[in-house]
Amino acid sequence: MTVRDICSEFNIGGKYISCAELSTGNINNTYQVRFLRDGEEKNYIIQRINKSVFTEPEKVMENIIKVTHHIRIKIKENDLSTKKFVLRAFRSKKDDQPFVIDDVGDYWRCYRFINNSITYDTCEDLSIIERAGSAFGKFQNYLGDFDASELHITIPNFHNTITRYEAFHQAIEKNPYRRVSKVKEEIERLCAFEEKAVKLQKYLDDGQIPLRVTHNDTKCNNVSFDKTSGQALAVLDLDTVMPGAIAHDFGDAIRFIANTCIEDDPDIEAVKLDLAKYEAFTKGFVSEVKDALTELEKSTLNLGAFAMTVELAVRFLTDYLNGDKYFKTKYPGHNVDRARNQIALATDIEYKMEQLEAIIKKYF
Ligand SMILES: Nc1ncnc2c1ncn2[C@@H]1O[C@H](COP(=O)(O)OP(=O)(O)O)[C@@H](O)[C@H]1O
Ligand SMILES: [Mg+2]
Repeated sequence: MTVRDICSEFNIGGKYISCAELSTGNINNTYQVRFLRDGEEKNYIIQRINKSVFTEPEKVMENIIKVTHHIRIKIKENDLSTKKFVLRAFRSKKDDQPFVIDDVGDYWRCYRFINNSITYDTCEDLSIIERAGSAFGKFQNYLGDFDASELHITIPNFHNTITRYEAFHQAIEKNPYRRVSKVKEEIERLCAFEEKAVKLQKYLDDGQIPLRVTHNDTKCNNVSFDKTSGQALAVLDLDTVMPGAIAHDFGDAIRFIANTCIEDDPDIEAVKLDLAKYEAFTKGFVSEVKDALTELEKSTLNLGAFAMTVELAVRFLTDYLNGDKYFKTKYPGHNVDRARNQIALATDIEYKMEQLEAIIKKYF
């Protein structure tokens, strides 16, 4: 089936004009489709959901419908435009579902395209980083009174650092590809981080911090911005919305946005935490959420930055030990470079912890 065929199965009126694949995003296949309706151009996003990552697409869509419904009510209460500030999923003509299944069993969805919007894959501009922080903070606030247990766990133990470490130790023990000896130093470093890195999960398991609705993919290209005014609009990419700790969202955003290098840069001497970017994101995020957090939660945000960075290093190295099966690799040892990069970042986060605590305090 073509994208045009898929469109015809959704309840969207008008005449199809054209379709272009968007190259941004690395999980799903995303297309921008143009329609003409009553003399006016209407744009939609059509996405094929990646079934190898999301094995239960119906549950993913159920989560998205619930969460966007809740946010839409909040947006209306705040007299904001629901066309700009929240995703809207269209339903199928045939059975009124928020997806269409094609002839080979793939799931497709259709969103309203947020007009005149843009996303940034990399972000150097501090004011944009601050606005991304505040968009993710607002997302938290809109969902602050949503019962997280209503959501499906679409990827079990996604940010469970304890089980990630268990898988790591298993890979070391089994050593199926005889690679342990090649990464002795990295293994030692990650083992030394373990006690501190799993603390956040322990707080969650012990009920010391609340389970909240978390986005779980807080990259800057998952926030749309108005092309003209630069204002942050809707938070996109809600596939991984699940129950979690607020420090997961804050920490993963810092890990991604405030690294001085890209995630797999092998020049690990250059990998540092950029304090200016850290502060910009923190300012945006914390200014939004500060009144909603418990005292313990506040103290976990920087721990989250450390834990999310270490967790990803653990995942990269586990995948290397198990034969590079999960992450797409471009060359042998790609996962080792990625792990080293994240270890270097975690080391710098730990080194700068006092400075980070001082910065975060300013915004609480
Ligand atoms: N409703 C939308 N309006 C405008 N652009 C969108 C919309 N949804 C997605 N996009 C664009 O498509 C890109 C990829 O979509 P996303 O849902 O983030 O997929 P992935 O999971 O592959 O990252 C986004 O970064 C954004 O540029
Ligand atoms: Mg995305």
